[in-house]
Amino acid sequence: MTSVSITVNGKTVSGEVEGRTLLSQFLRDDLKLTGTHVGCDTGQCGACTVHVDGKAVRSCNMLALEADGGEVSTIEGMANEDGSLGVIQAAFQEHHGLQCGFCTPGMVMAAADLLAANSSPSEADIRNHLEGNICRCTGYHNIIKSIQAAAAQLG
Ligand code: FES
Ligand code: FES
Repeated sequence: MTSVSITVNGKTVSGEVEGRTLLSQFLRDDLKLTGTHVGCDTGQCGACTVHVDGKAVRSCNMLALEADGGEVSTIEGMANEDGSLGVIQAAFQEHHGLQCGFCTPGMVMAAADLLAANSSPSEADIRNHLEGNICRCTGYHNIIKSIQAAAAQLG
């Protein structure tokens, strides 16, 4: 086992991990941050998307050890400090951007990554950015509407 220290949603946490422990496992099993969903575990669905050092990554595709010393943001960190939904989360709720909700954490984290780089993305920009995030409920239309609404609100 190896010690890791990672800043997760603004708080530094430490833990002991095996060399093979995935970042998704560390977040879900050790930190109980189960908002990060694991759909495929093979880097194909995007449900496990989190931000590491400001960039969207698939946490099932990264070892916890690789995030040692880094800054990780998860869907839990997208909420406001009082626990209410953050802007992107609220937009998904308001514009019916989720059905079963399984893909939603990854979609929201991917959207946040896009909006950080491009504050007024076109529909094509959004579709391109979400290319690797799969919704098995096929709710893409309202997901895009939700992200457009969040973009308008965030300015
Ligand atoms: S669970 Fe990580 S990409 Fe599907
Ligand atoms: S809302 Fe069900 S997988 Fe996307």
